[in-house]
Amino acid sequence: MNNFINSAKKVLLSNKKNGYTLPTNNKLYPAQWNWDSGFIALGYSHFKLKYALDELKTLIKGQWRDGMIPHILFHDLNTNYYPNHSVWACGNKIHSSGITQPPILAIIIKLIFDKYKIKKEKAEFKKIIKGVLKYHKWFIKFRDPNNSGLVSILHPWESGYDNSPLWDYSMSKVKIPKNLKYKRGDNKVVNPEYRPLDIDYDRYVTIKNHLKKNNYNPNKLFKASLFNVVDVGFNSIFLRANKDLVKLLKMFDLKSNEIETYISRSEKKIVKLYNKKNNSFINIDLKNKKKITIPSITHYFILFADLRDKKLNNKIIKNLKKHSNKEKYFFSSIKSDHRKFEEKRYWRGPVWINCNWIIYQGLKNKDIKFANQIKKKTINLVKQKGFNEYFSCKTGKGFGATNFSWTASLFLDLIFENKYEQL
Ligand code: GLC
Repeated sequence: MNNFINSAKKVLLSNKKNGYTLPTNNKLYPAQWNWDSGFIALGYSHFKLKYALDELKTLIKGQWRDGMIPHILFHDLNTNYYPNHSVWACGNKIHSSGITQPPILAIIIKLIFDKYKIKKEKAEFKKIIKGVLKYHKWFIKFRDPNNSGLVSILHPWESGYDNSPLWDYSMSKVKIPKNLKYKRGDNKVVNPEYRPLDIDYDRYVTIKNHLKKNNYNPNKLFKASLFNVVDVGFNSIFLRANKDLVKLLKMFDLKSNEIETYISRSEKKIVKLYNKKNNSFINIDLKNKKKITIPSITHYFILFADLRDKKLNNKIIKNLKKHSNKEKYFFSSIKSDHRKFEEKRYWRGPVWINCNWIIYQGLKNKDIKFANQIKKKTINLVKQKGFNEYFSCKTGKGFGATNFSWTASLFLDLIFENKYEQL
């Protein structure tokens, strides 16, 4: 086991730059990504708290004045990445994209506080937590302007599961302009079979260009964006993050009432996305007024939100057990008997370690036996196949980038969460 632990640490350390860490060591993602950084900080916290803190501090430095923490911060401007800083043209001191990503920071900080007695670094963490509070308030104000209890994402990239079939219907409504010009770089670095299609990219770029045309004005964009979806997975993460944020705010004697009120609203509203008939959750496309039913593993992030409804939780767990019962490796990002499932293509089928980790965390206090089974399978998959970006649910084969930071980080977290447990 020690060999694997050292290799995981090495992945992180060799992807580390000054104050932040790349998602991988190849040219695929040459910048700092929002939720990657959260997962990475958790990994570091097991062997070098300072690096965890640096990672979070650097991310918060990129926070916009209105409160948004961007999905990408471009610290190094000299790369072939598309869309790069000049394409986003966000005009901030730290160059960034103009959209966000799943807000996992409060969850990560809470986990770090649960594990360690933080003393020396308390003041620095307080500053970060204040930034996270501002970030959550931004979500409530601008991504749920009608105060419904659920927030919207305005670009598929905001979900973190970019080309999931969850977005197919909404994306099909985005009209691609005839004169659209751009040059993607990702499919030169990784086998194009494992990456999104050109038609998807055309639409990502179209939505992005439209956001820019609106000067990324959050007051306008909820209504104006070409894409506006309420996603179960994203809202589950936000709900859990809000719960953890309240605990952190209380630790620091900071006001938490706005967040607490929002939590009660979300708890009531998110269960409305549950569809009794097929015992699963659905997304809502607000732009096109359409319910989206796709068996995505991300819907099970609802377990991570820790709803108090035990009966509902049990039903969801029952369904989760069926999600991958035919597969050797789990969890496939899309149920493998669904017509949209693709074994190799990014978020349309492969197994992702962060999804397993989120579901594992959500199951621990509900079905420990199943949770431990997921943990064991996840650790073994990484041990057998390496620190890949994603994996086949059929063969375990690794796809995408190698030396992937969050795979290494979450592997470390699964191993170290209970140091004395024999695996
Ligand atoms: C891809 C993933 C996203 C991740 C980023 C960097 O865009 O879909 O979730 O944050 O790569 O790893």
